[in-house]
Amino acid sequence: MALLDIRLYGDPVLREKAQPIKEITDEHRLLAEDMAETMYAASGIGLAATQVGLLIRIIIVDVNWARAEERESEPKRPVAMINPEVLEESVEDDDYQEGCLSLPGIEGEVWRSVLIKVRYTTLDGETVIEECEDLHARCILHEIDHLDGTLFIDRMSPAGRRQLDRPLRRLAESASGEAQAEGEA
Ligand code: NI
Repeated sequence: MALLDIRLYGDPVLREKAQPIKEITDEHRLLAEDMAETMYAASGIGLAATQVGLLIRIIIVDVNWARAEERESEPKRPVAMINPEVLEESVEDDDYQEGCLSLPGIEGEVWRSVLIKVRYTTLDGETVIEECEDLHARCILHEIDHLDGTLFIDRMSPAGRRQLDRPLRRLAESASGEAQAEGEA
């Protein structure tokens, strides 16, 4: 297993659309393991392949990991979802302070459906249809957004988003600075 590099805001790959996976191979299973390890190491509850620079439709989710005090006792249960698709969303929605491993230090209020029905393929090639609610639903919606090149800041109110202008600019500048330094080394 290996830790993967999480791409940060300002990296153009985060704005690309990921392609469906046609055939699941051992390479995808290995990738899912590495993505889960990377997600836990960064104390995240979800990660999309886009965030590690791969434009294929696979996400990892484990919301049991959400609350810090539970991390010691909660077993890790990463769920890999291939080609995840939202079939239904409730009209009722709720707001919540979201964050993202690709936007360290940035948080913002986002409204999302409290109940969704999602269809995905497992690493064994089985099709699963599942109803998910609250944080679980939110996390899946956030990760599917990544596969479409959408970030949570795109879903904030204009006023909320404006308040993040400066920190976002700083983050993008430091991310491109790092890329440059890597290129020079
Ligand atoms: Ni994210």
